[in-house]
Amino acid sequence: MDITVFLGAPGSGKGTQAKILAKDHGSIHLSTGDMLRAAIQQGVDVGLKAKKFIDAGELVPDAVMIELIEKALGRLPSQSKIVLDGFPRTVAQAEALDKNAATRPNRAIYFMVPDELLLERLTGRRVCSKCGQPYHVKNMPPKKAGICDACGATIVQRPDDSESVVARRLEVFATQNQPLLDYFKNAKKLKELNANTPVDELQTELVKILS
Ligand code: AP5
Repeated sequence: MDITVFLGAPGSGKGTQAKILAKDHGSIHLSTGDMLRAAIQQGVDVGLKAKKFIDAGELVPDAVMIELIEKALGRLPSQSKIVLDGFPRTVAQAEALDKNAATRPNRAIYFMVPDELLLERLTGRRVCSKCGQPYHVKNMPPKKAGICDACGATIVQRPDDSESVVARRLEVFATQNQPLLDYFKNAKKLKELNANTPVDELQTELVKILS
């Protein structure tokens, strides 16, 4: 497997870029946030365990997340090109990936966005209720108000994008981020990227890094 980890604050654009890479360049996008939201919608066990943490803007316990990602990676063919979006978020999660040679990340890309932009990006975000395509009320509105360009389903706001939960998510990120960056830096796998650029420019940069 070729595994790229996307690191960055909530709202830094990881999901937006990973979805384009999957659509246009054949990568497999594994988003732990998307997996958890799907599990909540389907009422399955991991979703029930995760919901109270997500609603409060807290991290879901490592043991739950490690089991979820190991199962997801275990289902993929060994030659897959994978983008991990939202995992690892703690050093314990990074160590779990590294323990198994088959799931050891090849590189980590850190999306750098100034803090003052994140709140606006997150509270203005809307997502497709069916395919998860992200939009923004100002920066990236859909062509037809309230309707997903990609699949025609309704666009909604994520419950954890309310201002109070966003504030907590950003606090949690700030406590976990530096040790994780240090972990990948020490392994000589970290690439820092200015992610405060238009979506298409950032995508071109990522394609260069990944090719
Ligand atoms: P998750 O869904 O992973 O949320 P997140 O990391 O907080 O990331 P986001 O999805 O909020 O941001 P993003 O970087 O993908 O930004 P996006 O591209 O959408 O996790 C949710 C919750 O699940 C967590 O809080 C936690 O509880 C739990 N969880 C998940 N994984 C876990 C783990 N490993 N361990 C423990 N718990 C876990 O963009 C944001 C907005 O900006 C959009 O509106 C978009 O249109 C806009 N935008 C994007 N790019 C640009 C650009 N270049 N210019 C202008 N606007 C842009």
